[in-house]
Amino acid sequence: MDEQRTLLEIADRIAIVTLNAPERRNAIDRAMVDALHADLTRLESVPELAAVVITGAGDKAFAAGADIAQLKERTSRDAAAAINSTLFARVENFPVPMIAAVRGFCLGGGCELAIACDLRVAGQSAKFGQPEVTLGIIPAAGATYRLPRLIGLGRARDLVYTGRILDAAEAERIGLVNRVVPDAEVLDAALALAREIAHAGPLAVRAAKAAMNALARPNEGMALTLESALQAVLFDSTDKHARMQAFLDKRQKKS
Ligand code: COA
Repeated sequence: MDEQRTLLEIADRIAIVTLNAPERRNAIDRAMVDALHADLTRLESVPELAAVVITGAGDKAFAAGADIAQLKERTSRDAAAAINSTLFARVENFPVPMIAAVRGFCLGGGCELAIACDLRVAGQSAKFGQPEVTLGIIPAAGATYRLPRLIGLGRARDLVYTGRILDAAEAERIGLVNRVVPDAEVLDAALALAREIAHAGPLAVRAAKAAMNALARPNEGMALTLESALQAVLFDSTDKHARMQAFLDKRQKKS
């Protein structure tokens, strides 16, 4: 497939990065990870950048997780490379605020990308969840340590152990998203938030982000390593292969 996996627009000190594989619910494959790294590298050199909005193409998904066909083939060696984890840490550490504008499904790695962002704006029909355990793996791209920090350990345990899917209202109630708006207004609402940030002192906003990040994650390095090590064991398990094959088989049976 030679489609562009992300689209990047920059105007008035605000960037919009669009995950662009709508027919696969913007599932995050290796090419999309590489495209996002390239976008961040480009954005690092944009002078006076104030905020970045990340969204998904189409109205069905922000992102329905890592690409399961690729995930099925990943081994313990790939887990050690921490492919998605490294990208999402870069999103979290990006110098200016990142805003996830979420329509539709925001699952697995998609939800991990959204929670690596500073803020989340969701449409009324958005759906959130970490269904990894139902596929025999764990959300090892940051959810085991970012989610408890954001919504509390008890709620994070509920979501991560069951893989259950939340609607936007519940996501807002538990603090997983900052604002819920009508579906058609998600991008505008995220851009309005970005513009509000752009009016503030640019150095102050960057300093505020750096300070809050530093205080919020004293043990991030250890957590990241532990997640990847545990995932390495799961990546080679027969249970994981069987569960992911079952997802892929269901897809084939449709056609
Ligand atoms: N990885 C790879 N492909 C995916 C995908 C993923 N995470 N999520 C969706 N797709 C693909 C589907 O296989 C399907 O492909 P096909 O058209 O070739 O059959 C296409 O995207 C559309 O998905 P479909 O399931 O038909 O759409 P839907 O609207 O009925 O359901 C979801 C949407 C998100 C509920 C469903 O696709 C799903 O459960 N996805 C997996 C979510 C998940 O477990 N993510 C965590 C991964 S660790």
